[in-house]
Amino acid sequence: MILKTKIESLSIDSIRKDFPILSTMVYDKPLVYFDNGATSQKPKQVIEAIEKYYFTQNANVHRGAHYLSQQATEAFENARIKIQHFIKAKDNTSIIFTKGTTDSINLVAQSWGRKNLNPGDEVLISGMEHHSNIVPWQLICEERGALLKIIPVLNDGSIDLEAFKNSWSSKTKMLAINHISNTLGTINPIKEMIAYAHSKNALVLIDGAQAVPHLDVDVSDLDCDFYAFSGHKMFAPTGIGILYAKTEILDSMPPYQGGGEMIKEVRFESSTYADLPYKFEAGTPNIEGAIGLGAAIDYLNSFDRKELLAYENELLNYATHQLEQIDGIQFYGQSKNKASVISFLIEGIHPYDIGTLLDKMGIAVRTGHHCTQPLMDRFCIPGTVRASFTFYNTKEEIDLFISALNRAVKILKK
Ligand code: ALA
Repeated sequence: MILKTKIESLSIDSIRKDFPILSTMVYDKPLVYFDNGATSQKPKQVIEAIEKYYFTQNANVHRGAHYLSQQATEAFENARIKIQHFIKAKDNTSIIFTKGTTDSINLVAQSWGRKNLNPGDEVLISGMEHHSNIVPWQLICEERGALLKIIPVLNDGSIDLEAFKNSWSSKTKMLAINHISNTLGTINPIKEMIAYAHSKNALVLIDGAQAVPHLDVDVSDLDCDFYAFSGHKMFAPTGIGILYAKTEILDSMPPYQGGGEMIKEVRFESSTYADLPYKFEAGTPNIEGAIGLGAAIDYLNSFDRKELLAYENELLNYATHQLEQIDGIQFYGQSKNKASVISFLIEGIHPYDIGTLLDKMGIAVRTGHHCTQPLMDRFCIPGTVRASFTFYNTKEEIDLFISALNRAVKILKK
């Protein structure tokens, strides 16, 4: 029996029916999928939109005058408009299709960074960044002779705002920080940080990979310069992502990759480039990915997202309270403002051993460094066990997880 949420209008039973994979049996046990931070499952509505595209619309976009090409182009561009409205961007030319968050950040580092970073300039990131918001900056800083500076993380997993304010110099050109930490669940006070960065004449890139599936993101209200996210963590396919950027900034940036689609005219002597957003979309795009992302947005918009978030918080509190009863548990990420992600260790047990035993009992969690090795170093740990929830999870699943975890601990502590 699925325990009913306190939020009356949400029927989790019927939501779960939209996600056929959730009824998978794993080693004869019902699947409990708590690895939503890594990737989310996809509802039928998204899978069917992709199927419809391949059954009835498949053609290349922006290229042919023929019927199918027009159908595909319309579906592709409609997806861009859905994304624009979803994140409340002023202009659909602000929405660049990429492969995912990593690709979006690399685009900014390579295009904006190569043009604007000079020797001695500084890029500021936080100590809780995913590798995808560290390594692209390391690469471009090394190439341009710029310096990468790190805002420290406090013991409770929140950002050290005092240190943040002391990290600036007249050479700081970019602040790049996540909206929500994939490992700690911390929701960073990005609106305040963006305003502060702007008062210092720096630009701000937000890694929104973990935020867009949970929060109502308004890029216009945040006033960020860049906002990067992936489709696959928000119920859409893999291989599609978005870079939002202010159009005047995109206009001033050189192309990232060259090829078809991104040009106006090509001569052997030199080429001119297409208008936004196509200047940054070289090659045949991931058409079915964009259409799938549009369908995922329609799906999310069919709910009151505040109710979904309230339900996820309820799951977070319920699970945290149960986990607190386990001897020797240590949580990583206990900031007041956090998303439905729980990272923990149990004294004397390697996280990988817990993950392996949980898997045998049907429970999918992520173990390891979660692509945040510097954060693991900060806490002097090899990794954590991470359970990440979304709105199709239930309290009954949390009960299964807790009893499986107790069994695993008993076996491993023998
Ligand atoms: N960034 C993804 C995670 O946190 C892969 O698991």
